[in-house]
Amino acid sequence: MKLVKVSNYEEMSKKASDILFDVIKENEKPVIGLATGSTPEGTYMELIKKLNGSDVDQNNITTFNLDEYVGLDKDHEQSYSYYMHENFFNHVSIPKENIHLLNGKAENAETEVEAYEQAIDEAGLDVQLLGIGRNGHIAFNEPGTSFDSLTHVVDLTPETVEDNSRFFDNLGDVPSKAFTMGLNSIMKAKKIVILIYGENKKEALNALLSGEVTENNPASILNNHEDVTIIADTAAIGE
Ligand code: GLP
Repeated sequence: MKLVKVSNYEEMSKKASDILFDVIKENEKPVIGLATGSTPEGTYMELIKKLNGSDVDQNNITTFNLDEYVGLDKDHEQSYSYYMHENFFNHVSIPKENIHLLNGKAENAETEVEAYEQAIDEAGLDVQLLGIGRNGHIAFNEPGTSFDSLTHVVDLTPETVEDNSRFFDNLGDVPSKAFTMGLNSIMKAKKIVILIYGENKKEALNALLSGEVTENNPASILNNHEDVTIIADTAAIGE
C-alpha cells in the first residue's frame, strides 16, 4: 500500500480526483467505483471540474456505488442515491443507464444483490474509491464480515448508526440495515484509493498500517491488494 500524506482536505480532494481522472483518461470505457460520506465530497467537486473542463466522452463512463440504506427510497434526502446525485451525477453527463446504485427499496434483496454483483463482474472495476469508518468498516462491511463476502445485506453496528445519525433528524430514523458491496467485491477492483481524513480516523488508519490482516478490521483486507493508495491527512496520521 502506498501512503500519500496531505496537509488538508483540499489537497486530499485534489489528489484523489487526479487518480480517478487519470483512470478515466487511460481507459476507453472506464468503470469507477464510488463512495459516499463527508470525506469524498471534495473529491467529487474536483472531479466534476476536471470532467467538464476536458474533452473526455462521459458517455463511456460507468459507475458503481458501494452501498445504500435498506428501506430508503432513492429520492430520500438521506439515501446514498440522493447524495450521489446532489454531489456528483447532477453535475456531469454520465448517462443514467451507466450509473449503478443499489436500490434500498428492492422487493427481493437476494435478486438485488446477485444482479449487482453480476453487473460488477461483467463491467470490471478499474478503480474503487473508499472512505473508512472509525471501526475500520469499508462500504458498510462491519467488523467480522467475511473477507469472501460479495454484495449483501448487513446489520449496521450501533457505532455506525450513531456516526451516521448526524445526517438524520433523529437517531431512530437511521436505518439499521444496508445493502453493501462485499469485501471480495471491493477487492476485485484493479486499483483502490482510500481516503482517511481527520483525527477521529487515526485509530482506523493505524490499524490498517499495522499490517495485521484480520476480519475484525474490514479495511485490513486492503493489505492483500496490489494497488492501493491511502490518502491521509496529518491529523489522521497523528502529526
Ligand atoms: C458510511 C459509508 C462509508 C463511509 C463512512 C465514513 O458508513 N457507508 O462508505 O466510508 O460512512 O463516512 P465519513 O467520510 O462521513 O466519515
